[in-house]
Amino acid sequence: MVIEKLKPLFNYEELQEKSVSGNGMAGMDILSVQQFDREMLAYIFARAREMREMVQRVGEVDLLKGNVLTALFYEPSTRTSSSFIAAMERLGGAVIPITQGVQFSSVSKGETLADTVRTLEQYSDAIVLRHPQIGSAKLAADYSAVPVINAGDGAGEHPTQALLDLFTIREELGHVDGLRVAMVGDLRNGRTVHSLTKLLLHFDVSLRFVSPEILRLPLNIMNQVIDAGIDSRETHDVADVIDNADVLYVTRVQKERFADLAQYEEVKNHYEITPDLMKRAKEKMVIMHPLPRVGEIHYAIDDDPRAAYFRQVQNGMYIRMALLAAVLGRA
Ligand code: NCD
Repeated sequence: MVIEKLKPLFNYEELQEKSVSGNGMAGMDILSVQQFDREMLAYIFARAREMREMVQRVGEVDLLKGNVLTALFYEPSTRTSSSFIAAMERLGGAVIPITQGVQFSSVSKGETLADTVRTLEQYSDAIVLRHPQIGSAKLAADYSAVPVINAGDGAGEHPTQALLDLFTIREELGHVDGLRVAMVGDLRNGRTVHSLTKLLLHFDVSLRFVSPEILRLPLNIMNQVIDAGIDSRETHDVADVIDNADVLYVTRVQKERFADLAQYEEVKNHYEITPDLMKRAKEKMVIMHPLPRVGEIHYAIDDDPRAAYFRQVQNGMYIRMALLAAVLGRA
């Protein structure tokens, strides 16, 4: 009886048909959110929803069978690396994981990023790269014949995170146009903030940037916000934005980007979102965080239905499945 009520199983044939129609992303490097327009976003989000349905109904398909992804991480990662691995495996592909042990690879012998990439592309169909230097993903892409996906280039960008963040906003609140989004924390060094801000410029949103003085959004990104004609304001105090925000996007102070650790100590505990503060927030709003959190969101908020950060984590896998299928020409 239960079975009769179910819709047909995930339509693998349909996914394959779409791969024939193509969407222009096959073979594409994903280096910055600037590569995406609203049409591409809608396309990726539609594929991500299909991936979600497929995972929930059947768990895996062999869409990317025979494909190999190298996950090359020069900086620590939990969610980004494991979600890329899960994404590839759920699509029937395989992964070369250089995620925990770059120090055990030839990088520790002094090999350049260019040589490492030129080696790994011989084995793989795509490379996902996290590296401490701004511009490293672009450099890797210049050397690689296979698509390179930027999983964070220092304090630069983190485009796949921004896509999953935007997808989460869309799925949680039903739309993006018309929303008031407040970004809180280390806006200077937080690459997820940089990418998400740029992506939101495609929408009719208003933006609030909340940070200590030394962690303000970089000027070049603020100028893009202004040029896009987006309503925006900067403040030091979460209390200024909490009543009206539809999205509160909280970030950690990026300790690893500070040359002067004394300065980090000064600002590290600047914000904590507490249950008391949440009493002032709208009933229908979402609180998000790219994670890891190190004290910015009180644990008592986790049970609040507005706390979306673990749902955000799950969306990451669906978005990365959609992106992998797209760049490998199967979506
Ligand atoms: C973020 C990152 O690495 O930029 N983490 C992530 O990918 N989810 C945020 C952070 O480290 O603070």
